[in-house]
Amino acid sequence: MESRERKRGGGNLVFAVNGERFEVTSIDPSTTLLEFLRSQTRFKSVKLGCGEGGCGACVVLLSKYDPVRDQVEDYTVNSCLTLLCSINGCSITTTEGLGNSKEGFHAIHHRIAGFHASQCGFCTPGMCVSFFSVLLNAEKRNRPDLSPDFSKLSVSEAEKAIAGNLCRCTGYRPIVDACKSFASDVDIEDLGLNSFWHKGESKENKVNKLPSYDSSCQLSTFPEFLKEELQSTVLLDSERYSWYSPVSIGELQGMLESKGANDMTRAKIVVSNTGTGYYKELASYDTYIDLRKIPELSIVKRGSTGIQIGAAVSITKAIVELKDSGKDIMYDDAKMLLRKIADHFDKIASGSVRNSASIGGNLAMAQRSGFPSDIVTVLLAVDALVEIVTVSKWETITLEEFLERPPLDSRSIIVSVKVPIWKQESHCKLMFETYRASPRPLGNALPYLNAAFLAEICPCHGTDRFKVNHVRLAFGAYGTKHAIRARKVEEILVGRTLDHEVLQETMKLVRATVVPEDGISHPSYRMSLAEAFLFEFLQMLSETSVEFSGVGLNGYIDSQSGTGYGVEKCDISHSPPQLLPAKQTIISSSEHHPVGEPIAKTGAALQASGEAIFVDDIPSPADCLYGAFIYSTKPLARVTGVHFKSGSPPNGVAAILCYKDIPVEGENIGARSIFGSEPLFASDLTRCAGERIALVVADTQKHADIAAALAVVDYDTENLEPPILTVEDAIERSSFFEIPPFLNPEHVGDFNEGMAAADHKILSAEIRLPSQYYFYLETQTALAIPDEDNCMVVYSSIQAPEFAHSVVAKCLGVPANNVRVITRRVGGGFGGKAIRAMPTAAACALAAHRLHRPVRMYLNRKTDMIMAGGRHPMKITYSVGFKSDGKITALHFVLLINAGISEDISPILPSNILNALKKYNWGALSFDIKVCKTNHTSKSAMRAPGELQGSFIAEAVIEHVAASLSMDVDFVRNRNLHSYDSLTLFYKHGAGEPTEYTLPTIWDKVATTSRYNQRLDMVKQFNEIHKWRKRGISRVPILHEVLLRPTPGKVSILQDGSIVVEVGGIELGQGLWTKVKQMTAYALSLIKCGGTEDLLEKVRVIQADTLSMIQGGFTAGSTTSESSCEAVRISCNMLVERLTPVKDSLQQKTGSVKWEALISQAYLQAVNLSASAHYVPESTSMKYLNYGAAVSEVQVNLLTGETTILRSDIIYDCGQSLNPAVDLGQIEGAFVQGIGFFMLEECLSDPDGLVTSDSTWTYKIPTVDTIPKQFNVEIMNSGYHQKRVLSSKASGEPPLLLAASVHCATRAAIKEARRQLASWGGLEGSEANSPFQLSVPATMPVVKELCGLHVVESYLKASLANPSRSN
Ligand SMILES: Cc1cc2nc3c(=O)[nH]c(=O)nc-3n(C[C@H](O)[C@H](O)[C@H](O)COP(=O)(O)OP(=O)(O)OC[C@H]3O[C@@H](n4cnc5c(N)ncnc54)[C@H](O)[C@@H]3O)c2cc1C
Ligand code: FES
Ligand code: FES
Repeated sequence: MESRERKRGGGNLVFAVNGERFEVTSIDPSTTLLEFLRSQTRFKSVKLGCGEGGCGACVVLLSKYDPVRDQVEDYTVNSCLTLLCSINGCSITTTEGLGNSKEGFHAIHHRIAGFHASQCGFCTPGMCVSFFSVLLNAEKRNRPDLSPDFSKLSVSEAEKAIAGNLCRCTGYRPIVDACKSFASDVDIEDLGLNSFWHKGESKENKVNKLPSYDSSCQLSTFPEFLKEELQSTVLLDSERYSWYSPVSIGELQGMLESKGANDMTRAKIVVSNTGTGYYKELASYDTYIDLRKIPELSIVKRGSTGIQIGAAVSITKAIVELKDSGKDIMYDDAKMLLRKIADHFDKIASGSVRNSASIGGNLAMAQRSGFPSDIVTVLLAVDALVEIVTVSKWETITLEEFLERPPLDSRSIIVSVKVPIWKQESHCKLMFETYRASPRPLGNALPYLNAAFLAEICPCHGTDRFKVNHVRLAFGAYGTKHAIRARKVEEILVGRTLDHEVLQETMKLVRATVVPEDGISHPSYRMSLAEAFLFEFLQMLSETSVEFSGVGLNGYIDSQSGTGYGVEKCDISHSPPQLLPAKQTIISSSEHHPVGEPIAKTGAALQASGEAIFVDDIPSPADCLYGAFIYSTKPLARVTGVHFKSGSPPNGVAAILCYKDIPVEGENIGARSIFGSEPLFASDLTRCAGERIALVVADTQKHADIAAALAVVDYDTENLEPPILTVEDAIERSSFFEIPPFLNPEHVGDFNEGMAAADHKILSAEIRLPSQYYFYLETQTALAIPDEDNCMVVYSSIQAPEFAHSVVAKCLGVPANNVRVITRRVGGGFGGKAIRAMPTAAACALAAHRLHRPVRMYLNRKTDMIMAGGRHPMKITYSVGFKSDGKITALHFVLLINAGISEDISPILPSNILNALKKYNWGALSFDIKVCKTNHTSKSAMRAPGELQGSFIAEAVIEHVAASLSMDVDFVRNRNLHSYDSLTLFYKHGAGEPTEYTLPTIWDKVATTSRYNQRLDMVKQFNEIHKWRKRGISRVPILHEVLLRPTPGKVSILQDGSIVVEVGGIELGQGLWTKVKQMTAYALSLIKCGGTEDLLEKVRVIQADTLSMIQGGFTAGSTTSESSCEAVRISCNMLVERLTPVKDSLQQKTGSVKWEALISQAYLQAVNLSASAHYVPESTSMKYLNYGAAVSEVQVNLLTGETTILRSDIIYDCGQSLNPAVDLGQIEGAFVQGIGFFMLEECLSDPDGLVTSDSTWTYKIPTVDTIPKQFNVEIMNSGYHQKRVLSSKASGEPPLLLAASVHCATRAAIKEARRQLASWGGLEGSEANSPFQLSVPATMPVVKELCGLHVVESYLKASLANPSRSN
């Protein structure tokens, strides 16, 4: 015992990470687990994606040991929010702890790689830990072992495992498959494309080929040494760590008393600290008081009157307890109530947040700061009680009273909350239902509004109806101080029998009661939700006749069929995500073995095990400093000073640099493209909100970030012109960027003639398209290290190292050969790490140059979002002429592109837009395009820049024409597809050979494979039957021109026969290295000697280094993989040519030649075994067209505006794919990113243009629960293409355009909704039939507004006026 005491270092912070013991003798108590792991250990797999609990990149497994029960509890937590001091005595497992390349990967790592579930790999470690946790916990459950090769996990659990993890690359489907492959109830045939088995193999073979998983030899997550140590004291030395863990209420009270109210401002009461994900903290505290060791706060007591949940109990534990408590309760209704509370809690945040987030913390945040809590709303409806202790006073009050009080005093502690057991009168029935409408059903999204309703109802004698005896209605999260009870509404319901008249009266009152405060977004939408949810709750009674003894009242109604009581259950949140088995159809080819084969992505297993090194994982050199940008919040102003409120710079600040610190021989340059450059820092005048003004350099990244956030910038706008914030302003002030003549698209035909031939015209219709943020999981980052002789080495996560190189050299004023930029891999780029990555690299280099110390920077998510620029917003005004049969004869449009403050790549936008828009034969096409210079951050390339908008504009015009003619839109699309002749007219040489025009084939094929026509009928039938849900289906073609650019490549063969390859292209997750490896193996195998079959294993592609491989250019435009491959192929051909004489002579001597022997001989003969080439595509074949088509079907919930993508089918022509698995990943990932643009991702800014969608709270990319429920993809092999690299075609960007099919399907569903609304009198007749614009993104509020904010009111009015019509 004594030795243990000694070992624990007397109150030291001791814990384990992946089985290793850590003892930390002093630490700033605000240090998070993530900060510690990343800066003080070698376990860098834990990634920082947001620092808010919103992305899951930082998820680790936390294991706690209970010595009394000798049991280990394992659950995931977000290490970015977990304070290090709070893990004293715990064990942490990261993905490195599961396995690695040296000692063997874990089955999870193997399966992630084999199912092609990792692209850039930045999200992958977090995904693996989330998987591991569900597997581990499933094994612990008391379930029978169903199959020896599988775990006890079920498919539905596997699907939910990653609900809180974001991935921007893959589209999630393969990740879910990798996870499902462990599930005992999985049908192996349902799993998608993988590298383990081939199509057609027997089930048994398939199972045998899965990397083995042995549930019986589970990893021990809690090391024995720590168990032993835990026998002694586990409390930290409070003084030394400023971390107090009172073990009784009495001790806590004493502490609070001794502190006094003033002292408490420097003290922080903490449970799991997840609150800081929302309320970011800049202030530091002297003391932390951890409530978790106080028994009253940590237990759940079940009694006959209720369940008392300690305030420090986690949401996950509360869910388990609520569900379990039901077992002890006799009343079904009370059981049901507890279960529904638990079900609602299950939708809060993500699993990893719920595992630690406490009930009391949630209540405190809601009461003190107005946090839009779900817990409060639900508990308010069931009349929960709250127990509070304030220094010496104990009290128990109702939750309602608690909320009405002034914000909880800093010395008041919530002890517990009690959920009462409800008992109804014997002849009555309890009804309870909870609701929430949020941008994503499960994946970490706060609700627009939540609600919970409790009612006791009794039969009305002599009728089949009910009377309301008692009712409690709670609404919250809609933009009020806190959740409310709608008392007036309750009052009018009590004692009433529910009929449509009562409902109408009730709805009116709800509208007057649930009123968001000023400044809250989407107020009308939120009000309409309140109405919709209550309506749904009440109509179950008013419209039905239910047997009282039946289970029905509170039972679920089949949400898919909408049958049940003739009333549809509309709350989609009740249906967990269920991905249906999907088909991936590929044709692999062995003609150019191993090119064309679906091999797994190079490095995927390393990415999974956390061994892959990203820029921020490179250990900090000695003396390293850290930077953070101070950016402008004004669009156009003189910067008169930068200072700190406190007068002196905050802790750790070493310097603040601005444009004045640029060396005299250097230049104020932060980025450049072929069109122009932009300054690194604003000089005296800042020209947009989000522009870099200065760089704070500090001793840690945290200190730099805090200092930058605390910096105050003084502005002066006197005598300045107003900023140009809209494209209309730009027109007025003639503020444009020039479009170089070679990028000026040409008109086609004569517009006036086309218009003259038209039977109908639409004139000056308008569309606006918004921006989109990249949301790469790894934000901008660089590390600059000064080297001898005034040189600078910069590690940058960039898609264009060559350009960063020249920017750094210019900025520092040194020759280019003094600079070296190195890029190994990029944690997601999507165009955002091309030009936009340069300022980070340049700023680090400048600071390193000035301070003579290494400087690194990893932008926090907020700064990244504010400065990123992103996709170009634009305004389009079009006029179109068309015949009565749907044939379009002429299109003219005026396009105003908001390019922001500098050129960046904006001048390419017009031609990109045109190239995608010309997918239809418009007859004649003319346009007027302006690239507007505005006082916004510079917009840049984002995956399919311009093409995405061009393709969408084309669809919007087609939809408009079809609507005007009341014609089927698919017919109009068909009518206007190109013939090969018209294609040649629109695309000239780019059209290629007639056989290459595969779109008509794809178009027909996708209709067949998706059963488009049959499903169209089914959709019609569905819409006839269903009132509150409407479906839509849409088929959309795409055509996307790409351009090959010159690219270098170098292949070197080492003495042992292994091969090293360098290419200009950067590995961004798109599989470039994999294709390059395949190409190298193929091209070198043409030497035709023994041992070349496994050349693939011998090839290593190494990091890009701008001094080793010059002229690397940009990795962009979807073609860098193929051009890099071609450069490598040319290099290999040279080597083969040099090796051939050696081989021939060896062959003559020995008969057969092995690769290794050949290379040895070549070395002896001093053959040059390094060859490099600069591939320059021929001018006639550098452009080519890509084709694809998609059919998507969606379901819109008319009450909430939620759109569910039921199914998407894609066919995409990849030529002869270089690697169908990689291309499939690109297609699916791009499509899902497109769904984000069209349906979810809202880029908002304040009136000054400062981005306000600046966090995971405000910007919602797709999660696993928002992708198509069924997602079928076919990669078409269109055979031989003379001018393509081994007949291959691009896949990175074009499929993104196909996501417009989801938007168009949504429009079709809304059309049906509007038709119905019109029949209820909710729309004027003309309005009902006239075309409507569906904005991008079609978020829930947007969809709901078009379906009718007052749809319930209209329905009730109609049904009252004509009861038979509306039922
Ligand atoms: C990514 C994410 C998503 C989320 N989504 C949702 C959601 O959809 N719906 C929802 O309702 N909530 C949501 N939450 C909020 C979450 O429930 C709370 O963050 C959590 O419950 C707070 O618990 P904690 O133990 O981490 O509190 P802490 O962060 O430790 O504390 C939060 C605050 O409460 C104070 N406090 C804590 N306990 C007590 C106590 N017993 N008495 C007095 N003061 C106390 C602390 O001093 C602090 O000010 C989300 C949170 C995150 C991070
Ligand atoms: S970094 Fe922790 S959840 Fe995003
Ligand atoms: S692989 Fe998931 S974010 Fe890149």
